[in-house]
Amino acid sequence: MAFPATRLRRLRRTPPLRDLVRETRLDPGDLVLPLFVEEGLGAATPVAAMPGVARHPLAGLVGEAGEAQELGLPAVLLFGIPAQKDEQGSGAWDEDGVVQEATRALKAAHPGLLVIADLCLCEYTSHGHCGLLRDDGAVDNDATLELLARTAVSQARAGADVIAPSDMMDGRVGAIRAALDDEGFADVPILAYSAKFASAFYGPFREAAGSPPAFGDRRGYQLDPANGREAVREALLDVEEGADIVMVKPALPYLDVIRRIAEASALPVAAYNVSGEYAMVKAAARDGLLDERAAVLEALTSIRRAGADIIISYHAKDAARWLRT
Ligand code: PBG
Repeated sequence: MAFPATRLRRLRRTPPLRDLVRETRLDPGDLVLPLFVEEGLGAATPVAAMPGVARHPLAGLVGEAGEAQELGLPAVLLFGIPAQKDEQGSGAWDEDGVVQEATRALKAAHPGLLVIADLCLCEYTSHGHCGLLRDDGAVDNDATLELLARTAVSQARAGADVIAPSDMMDGRVGAIRAALDDEGFADVPILAYSAKFASAFYGPFREAAGSPPAFGDRRGYQLDPANGREAVREALLDVEEGADIVMVKPALPYLDVIRRIAEASALPVAAYNVSGEYAMVKAAARDGLLDERAAVLEALTSIRRAGADIIISYHAKDAARWLRT
């Protein structure tokens, strides 16, 4: 008689049985859609490297967000592209800046949809780096903290539900938390891009947000892809400084990091399935090399299985549609 351990497939025989024993579920309620809003734009402008993604004018953005909400997505992550950039990135904390205006418009039109404001200076600085530059061209970490804190407060004042710093300056979560508390926003949570790697997979985003660094790269402040332990250390520091949710970015090449951080902290974990991950699937699907729906649902489920509670993905609307049918 055969040894019964060969009978694991008993649980795989029929769809209801497979569903019953499924360990990880993917739900539209886990997904967040990134959106780009550009000041002074006449009509939605497609991002060439990301089919299906566009930069929106304010009016179009509100419609796009409404669609996301109807599909069951709980939140959008908002990126702004200002009309003018300068050395400091002063458009980032302008009370009438592009993200502040967009946040007010979104909250007025869709009060039940969460607005997560991405907080970084790189879309607002003329040099494209994520902070103030010193004379030698390196980013001045401590001088940047005050600008980030000021930006966070202006985003909260505009009605942002969550502040998401993506700059990777040391000490920014503490600085932002203190400023929010001082200004009466103690209840506004921080989603920290804690383990943000210096990744080649951000290429298409930099086209979408108009934020490639004018010189050099971001390796001076983003994590080395080789370092998993250091990523855990970054996350634990953010937890100590007052983060409410910690994030790993990108997602698919860093599933081990998602798992380690989920085990090392008791906070909710988010993962950012970034522009390059999206572009790869789109390009392969366009050329008939992959079944887009199957590939995306498998990838998103795997990110959840690794330990992410929340997934930020440009495929969020598609996934929500596919999960319904
Ligand atoms: C920077 C920021 C980046 C992304 C989100 N916020 C790019 C970068 O660090 O260069 C990338 C997101 C993506 O690739 O989808 N503020």
